[in-house]
Amino acid sequence: MTGAITTVRTVKDLRAHLATWRKSGETVALVPTMGALHEGHLSLVALAGTKADRVVVSIFVNPIQFGPREDFKTYPRDEAGDLVKLIKAGTHLVYAPDMAGIYPKGFTTHVRVGDLTEDLCGSARPNHFEGVATVVTKLLLQCAPDLAVFGEKDYQQLLVIKRLVRDLDLQVEIVGGEIVREGDGLALSSRNGYLSPAERKVAPLLYHTIHEVAAALAQGAGADTASEAGRFKLEAAGFRVDYVAVRDPETLARLSGPVKQARVLAAVHLGKTRLIDNVPVPLPASTNR
Ligand code: PAF
Repeated sequence: MTGAITTVRTVKDLRAHLATWRKSGETVALVPTMGALHEGHLSLVALAGTKADRVVVSIFVNPIQFGPREDFKTYPRDEAGDLVKLIKAGTHLVYAPDMAGIYPKGFTTHVRVGDLTEDLCGSARPNHFEGVATVVTKLLLQCAPDLAVFGEKDYQQLLVIKRLVRDLDLQVEIVGGEIVREGDGLALSSRNGYLSPAERKVAPLLYHTIHEVAAALAQGAGADTASEAGRFKLEAAGFRVDYVAVRDPETLARLSGPVKQARVLAAVHLGKTRLIDNVPVPLPASTNR
């Protein structure tokens, strides 16, 4: 127990808590996280709280979604700080399993979602989505929530999770939570802390560029022309660009020519930090300047 929040570390303890709530007819929302929580995560917790009686937040840094040269070892971890934030955000239970609680000795079962994972972040990070799909399937089976909330910042991830839930008939509603941004537009991310002060100044250009791409599309520009212009702008500013893409918002299918409804997605490297972001087309009225 920490303050007013209970942390459980085994699926047995998790299920014991859930059983008490279920007995009294309460609904449960799960917010899966890898910790290092920021306002973006807390907005997902708040959203979960509007949709269910009880909110469970899981904290687990999932090794199998990181590539061999990625930042698993250095990924920020601050469980004590996270718990303080979660108490304020109205979380009822924290599930922080150890490695064996998710991947017991001899674990060999993996979940692979097809087409949706084949490009964009799937090309840049082979096996990433298999790692995400596997751990999310486990967390959903362990917790059996009525709904689970994931951020739209990881837009491709959100679609992958919706697809696996549909394909495997998991009985859970997947809800997407809006991206939370700094005042200058930079999407909140646990990895923003890797940026040097100089990189942090340049980083918001990612959002401003995809916003411009979306605005150009809304004015009738073709998808290829608009995304190429975005890539050019980012490269000129010193970003190493994985992709700037205009895709169908449901299937992530490639689009070309003028589009009515789309998602503009981008992934870039700034120094040693990989940043991703996305915006809808049409842009929401509040950002449609
Ligand atoms: O988005 C994340 O933080 C992770 O990919 C998730 C969904 C918690 C799975 O490890």
